[in-house]
Amino acid sequence: MNNQTIETILNHKSIRKYTNEPITKEQIHTIVQAAQQASTSSYYQAYNIIGITDPTIKKELSLISGQSYVENNGHLFIFCANLNRFLLKTDESFKEKITENLMNTEHFLVATIDASLAAQNAAIAAESMGLGICYIGSLRNNIAKVDQLLNLPPFVIPLFGMTIGYPDQEPERKPRLPIEAVYSENSYPQNNEETEKYIDEFNEILGAYYENRTENNRSDTWTDQLHRKLSKPVREDVTTYVKSKGFNKK
Ligand SMILES: Cc1cc2nc3c(=O)[nH]c(=O)nc-3n(C[C@H](O)[C@H](O)[C@H](O)COP(=O)(O)O)c2cc1C
Repeated sequence: MNNQTIETILNHKSIRKYTNEPITKEQIHTIVQAAQQASTSSYYQAYNIIGITDPTIKKELSLISGQSYVENNGHLFIFCANLNRFLLKTDESFKEKITENLMNTEHFLVATIDASLAAQNAAIAAESMGLGICYIGSLRNNIAKVDQLLNLPPFVIPLFGMTIGYPDQEPERKPRLPIEAVYSENSYPQNNEETEKYIDEFNEILGAYYENRTENNRSDTWTDQLHRKLSKPVREDVTTYVKSKGFNKK
């Protein structure tokens, strides 16, 4: 079953090189509106989107991420989890109770889920306009510095960026795990051997993809990639930072 929406979604590929053509204020407005219309836990709308138009801040963010396309794109969004808004228009006695409750893991999840859903709506809206996008998690290479650059108050943390612009490259679509590895009915898959078989299948498909793709081709598999990444500690300062902002403290 296919329609234009499904086609847009199934054609997704991250774009890391953009033409100089700027995107319009109207496009940005529509993309943000689409983000805002995503479902949101308890109607909380627990996120903020910060558009970066100041070239100095953009440059700083690009240095933190180590990725040139964070500077060179049509527009850059930073998606933040935000529980701070709930402390506004609240009298002191109530504020104390709310602050205490906002510190739990549940509210940390609520805000990160809300922000992520909004972001994916933004991505699809942008792609439906012929634009390309790339999520930017590498901003968390120095999350405290991003916090400073964007003047974030307590209970607001940056989660990831998203570059947007007209594509200046045509990467091949990256394969995904076999459906059976991610979708099951009524229970989590109980047979690890079967899951390992799907991973083997996927390693072959991905190996061929890496060998044949036009840019940056190499010999690699998904399992090797995961082992390389997950065997090293990563961004260990994030825990302390997140807690220092009031999130996930209890
Ligand atoms: C939350 C998140 C953070 C990401 N961070 C980065 C990043 O910092 N730099 C980058 O080049 N790609 C980043 N990506 C893109 C992934 O590498 C990409 O989605 C994945 O390899 C699949 O490729 P595809 O999007 O082209 O299908 C990120 C994706 C997500 C969802």
